Amino acid sequence: MSPSSPTAVDASQALELAVVVPTFNERANVDELVRRLSEVLQGLAWEVIFVDDDSPDGTADHVRELARVNPRVRVVHRIQRRGLSSACIEGMMSTAAPFLAVMDADLQHDERILPQMLQALREPGCDLVVGTRYMEGGGVGEWDESRQFTSRFATALSQRLLKVSLRDPMSGFFMIRRDAFHGAVHHLSSMGFKILLDIVASSPRKLNFTEVPYTFGLRHAGESKLDARVAWDYLLMLADKTLGRYIPTSLISFGAVGGLGVLVHLMVLFLALNVGGREFAQAQTLAVLVAMVFNFFLNNVLTYRDKQLKGWQWWWGLAKFMAACALGAVANVGVASWMHGGGEYWLWSGLAGILVGLMWNYGATAILVWPQRRKA
Ligand code: GDD
Ligand code: MN
Repeated sequence: MSPSSPTAVDASQALELAVVVPTFNERANVDELVRRLSEVLQGLAWEVIFVDDDSPDGTADHVRELARVNPRVRVVHRIQRRGLSSACIEGMMSTAAPFLAVMDADLQHDERILPQMLQALREPGCDLVVGTRYMEGGGVGEWDESRQFTSRFATALSQRLLKVSLRDPMSGFFMIRRDAFHGAVHHLSSMGFKILLDIVASSPRKLNFTEVPYTFGLRHAGESKLDARVAWDYLLMLADKTLGRYIPTSLISFGAVGGLGVLVHLMVLFLALNVGGREFAQAQTLAVLVAMVFNFFLNNVLTYRDKQLKGWQWWWGLAKFMAACALGAVANVGVASWMHGGGEYWLWSGLAGILVGLMWNYGATAILVWPQRRKA
């Protein structure tokens, strides 16, 4: 070791708390958040890590400017990636702090409870402290009825399905001990928005938690990224946590999209026959084509969002998708007829055909249409 490398540290300065903040287009919130954190965490050894997915508004550049002059500020700048949960995970993996907090950049999470959260987490035996809206002293602020209802419904669903006893498992505001996080990290789904729920449901041991109430504030600047796809991701995560041991999540998503595709197919068939007055073969052909385009479209935005095809690649992808699925249909009919010919009951024959077709379509399109991007 060279004599100049500083290996000795002053233990009183040792890093204690890391605040991980996922960002996408949050440039206008960064300064205010850092200002508030500096105020409330005064006297502690802390750092804040912004994990930015290459926001078009230049959030990462802005954080870098701050980080040059303020060593408490760091940035993880991810390219060609999207996702709140995976951003939080990578932020938490990038720090040496023993206590890890996660909070949003838009100041909706009340930073003033951070010291109280840290104090609770320091208690022996406590693994996790959750900022909770659904307990006395907390609240959702000014949400409209429909968002309140959706949030409550999703909360109840996860409590039932995943047997999670947190009052606010959907909270994006929490603090966890490093060892508790590391225990769960290899088992995470890391999909979508609900990182806390993911950690709690993935942990091999039951985590001891404390809840601290806070009121969800109004967004400071910019806009929310919560959209319909977040709901899909959420349902997929529930599926992954219950069925995922047996089936890959992308297959569950692909299958669910296929199920919707069948409905579209039947609707088009019905309309073409009864409203359009077409011949059956013609109507069925039309229905197959529409259902294929529908399936391709939905899989592209839901199942393979992280590899979403755009522009001319979209059209090329559609062509490959249709070719692959045409072969899948041949396999489907082949297997079903073969079984039926062997005296098998029509329903089992039909379902076996569907299963073979589904597996073929899933496998072939995963390789041909949405291949893995990463090289090694
Ligand atoms: N890096 C990264 N990548 N960050 C993201 C992404 C992404 O794909 N999507 C969103 N973010 C960041 C936002 O920039 C923000 O800092 C934070 O994640 C939360 O996003 P919002 O768009 O503000 O979400 P919300 O306010 O609707 O939802 C929040 O509250 C929910 C409670 O109902 C989140 O904290 C949810 O996790 C929480 O469940
Ligand atoms: Mn928000």
